[in-house]
Amino acid sequence: MTPAVRAADINLELLERDPYPVFAELQQHEPVAFVPSLGMWLVTRWDDVVQVCEHPDLFRSNTEPSWLRDCLGENMLTLDGAAHDRLADGMRPPFVASTALPVVRNGLPALFDELIDQFPHHASPGGEVELMTAYAEPLANLALAAALGWSVDWHDLAVWNRGVCAGIANFENDPQRAQLAATANAELADAIDAALARGELSEYVQRGFTRDEIVSNIRLMVSGGINEPRDGVALVMWVLLTQPAVMAAVRADGAVLRKVIEETFRWVSPVGTATRQAVHDVSLAGVDVPAGSLVAACLSAANRDPRRWSQPDVFSLDRREGAHLAFAIGEHRCLGEWLGRQQVRLAVERLLDRFRHIELTRPVELSGFEFRGPLAVHVTLA
Ligand code: HEM
Repeated sequence: MTPAVRAADINLELLERDPYPVFAELQQHEPVAFVPSLGMWLVTRWDDVVQVCEHPDLFRSNTEPSWLRDCLGENMLTLDGAAHDRLADGMRPPFVASTALPVVRNGLPALFDELIDQFPHHASPGGEVELMTAYAEPLANLALAAALGWSVDWHDLAVWNRGVCAGIANFENDPQRAQLAATANAELADAIDAALARGELSEYVQRGFTRDEIVSNIRLMVSGGINEPRDGVALVMWVLLTQPAVMAAVRADGAVLRKVIEETFRWVSPVGTATRQAVHDVSLAGVDVPAGSLVAACLSAANRDPRRWSQPDVFSLDRREGAHLAFAIGEHRCLGEWLGRQQVRLAVERLLDRFRHIELTRPVELSGFEFRGPLAVHVTLA
C-alpha cells in the first residue's frame, strides 16, 4: 500500500497540528525516517525508541549543535554517563517521595485552593474560567518553587519559563526569541544568586555543586518542570470533561484518577521526543543511520505503537499492557516524575472536590509536537 504521508513531506506545522496520523504512517512504512525539513531522523516504534533512550553509547545526549546547551548552559540533559549521573543523582532529592511528601501533603493543596479562591467566576458567578492561565500554569510554577524551597514570586518564574522556552525552541535563530531568552536567563541567574545568599537552595551547595551548575540545572527545571505538569493538568481535565463515562468513574471512586492520569499521558504525551545524536554509524530497525545524525526518539509515537498497545488510539481505563514512555526511559528518565504525577492528581482532585459541575464552554484545541497540550480550557464551574 502506498503511504499517505512520506517522511519527505513532513514538516513541523503538520506535526504540531496532529502528529498521530503521521506517526501511524511512519510506523508502518518508514519506522526510522530522515525528515529533511527537520534535519533529523524520526524513530516511531516502541522497541526502537527504547533502544535509542537506553543506549547512550550509541545515541548521546551531548549533541552538537545543542539549542538546549546554548540557551541554558551545560546541564544534566546535555551530558551522558558519569557526568550526567553526578548531576541527576544530586539534584533529584527535592522531587522524590521521601523528601517531597510533606510539601505535597501539607503545602500544595492549600496553594491550589488559594488559586481556586481567586478564580474570576467568584466575581461574576456563571462566568467563564480559563483553566490554563487561572490554574494549571500558576500551580505548576508554585509547585516547582515549593519543592525547591525557593521563595520566588511565581509570576516571575512564569515569565522566565516563557523566555527560556522561547530560547530552547529558537531553531530559526530569531533575534526576538534570543533576546527574550537572554533576559530570562540573566534574571533567573540573579534570582538564584539572591536565593543562595539567603541560604535557600543550600542543599545543592552542600552536595558540592558549583554556582554555575546550580544555575544551569535550575534553568532546565524552569523549562522542563513547569510546562509538562501544566499541560498534564489541562490534558486530564480535557479528558474528564469530554468523556462523561471517565468523569463518572472518577466521581464514583477517586482512586480511578491515578489510572486516568496514566492513560492520558500514554494517549497524549506532554513531551513528544527525546533528542539524541548517533555516536557511530548505527543500524536501527535495519536502517543505516550515519554517525552525527540527530535522532528524535518519539515517545508519544511509541505510546501509540500498535506493536505494543491494542487499539492504541482509543483511551481505555481497562489497559493491562504495562508502563508508557511519557516520562522517558534510560538515564534521562524524568527527574520530576513523582512530583509531576502528584501535582496533576492533587490539582484535579481539588477542582473536582470544590465543584460538582464543571462544563466546557468551548471546544478544546490541542497543539504541539515537542510539547503537546491544550491551548486553552474554558469552563464554567458550580
Ligand atoms: C508531569 C509531567 C512531566 C512529564 C510528562 C515529563 C517528561 C519528561 C521526559 C520525557 C524527560 C526526558 C527528556 C529527554 O530524555 O530528552 C524528562 C526529563 C526531565 N524532567 Fe520531566 N516531566 C514532567 C515533570 C517534571 C517536573 C515536575 C520536573 C521538576 C523539576 C521535571 C524535570 C525534569 C528534568 C530535570 C529532566 C532531565 C533529567 C535528566 O537529564 O536526567 N519534569 N521529563
